[in-house]
Amino acid sequence: MNKSIYFSSFLIILHVFSLFGETVSVSDSSTSLKETFDLYVNSVQNSDLAKLFSTVSDSERFYFLTSHGELIDSRQEYHTFHENWFKEADWDMPVELVKIHQDGDFGYTIAIFYYSSKLPDGQTYHLDSYFTLLYHRENGKWKVIADICTPIKRYFSGRNPDIQYDFRQHYLFDILENRRTVRNFKSIPVPREHIMKILEAAHSAPTAGNQQPWKFLVIEDREKLNRLKEEALSWYLDSPSNHKIQDRRGPEPSKNAIEAILENLLSAPVYIAVLVDSGAKYPDYIIYDGTLAAGYLMIAARALGYGTGFYTTFFPEDRMKKFFNIPDQYKLICFTPIGVPVEWPEKTAKKTLEEVIMFDSF
Ligand SMILES: Cc1cc2nc3c(=O)[nH]c(=O)nc-3n(C[C@H](O)[C@H](O)[C@H](O)COP(=O)(O)O)c2cc1C
Repeated sequence: MNKSIYFSSFLIILHVFSLFGETVSVSDSSTSLKETFDLYVNSVQNSDLAKLFSTVSDSERFYFLTSHGELIDSRQEYHTFHENWFKEADWDMPVELVKIHQDGDFGYTIAIFYYSSKLPDGQTYHLDSYFTLLYHRENGKWKVIADICTPIKRYFSGRNPDIQYDFRQHYLFDILENRRTVRNFKSIPVPREHIMKILEAAHSAPTAGNQQPWKFLVIEDREKLNRLKEEALSWYLDSPSNHKIQDRRGPEPSKNAIEAILENLLSAPVYIAVLVDSGAKYPDYIIYDGTLAAGYLMIAARALGYGTGFYTTFFPEDRMKKFFNIPDQYKLICFTPIGVPVEWPEKTAKKTLEEVIMFDSF
């Protein structure tokens, strides 16, 4: 639980009561306070903005600490918050009252809401949170003067509603789901810290017999990348095998079209040539080792907001090794850009899970 949220909640309670020059102590519950609470909750559950605000203080001074730790400190903003929220569909929020207190013209309720909303991907997002409402009697009526959310738990559920995924688990699946091969980048630099963090992830990939046959060649030199662009164009045009592929695919793209593709492919600020050592103990496995490391690298980069790719075409191993002075014993697994995409591509069409999964027997 976030300590700063507890602390802020405490400060707000103190502050609100100090504004009215009175300290509230525990006392018996009051029906009218309970009725106000029920009206407040029903109005939220029915997205009834007018009814909800009939329970809220008329004063502009209002304190709302959201479940995300954001402090909203005016009635108008509290209104806007609910107005926006109530436009949303497909959510539900049962409420459980935990405590109700009143002392003179002040009171508070402590309750738990169990919010859930359907996400576009079919999953359900859940937030269980305390919410404490502070009340003041205005012209004989109880009015809410502050609303403090203290989150208990956030989680997600999918096909089986009984199985919960916590925020960190959900986040990882989200990253995997949203990785894309990117082929056009902005020139925004990638800090060295991020490059190292991404390579740390690649370095944590499994390898056969823990042989760790990798080398990661990092290329940030723009001039070198520009030269590579020219070279890659001539490599492509020189290679008869490329023309054969094109014959099968349809009309051969013009030199200008290939140049434009390479311009985009080489627009990232950083590239990693993922290499593996063929002199490693288990050379038959080095391709798996290198490919897994590249996979980890791409996922880590996505977590930091970067696009990547597993580039092979246009960057033939023999030519690349000469260009970058890579010793003979190393094999090039892929040439991977890291950068901020010009735009995130749509998800590529994938086979359905049913097509590719079998249980127990093929
Ligand atoms: C072994 C392998 C080789 C690939 N070679 C290239 C390539 O040369 N150029 C390229 O743009 N993408 C290349 N890709 C990326 C695939 O085209 C891409 O993963 C696929 O279209 C699915 O798209 P996604 O990565 O966005 O899910 C390669 C991927 C793999 C695994």
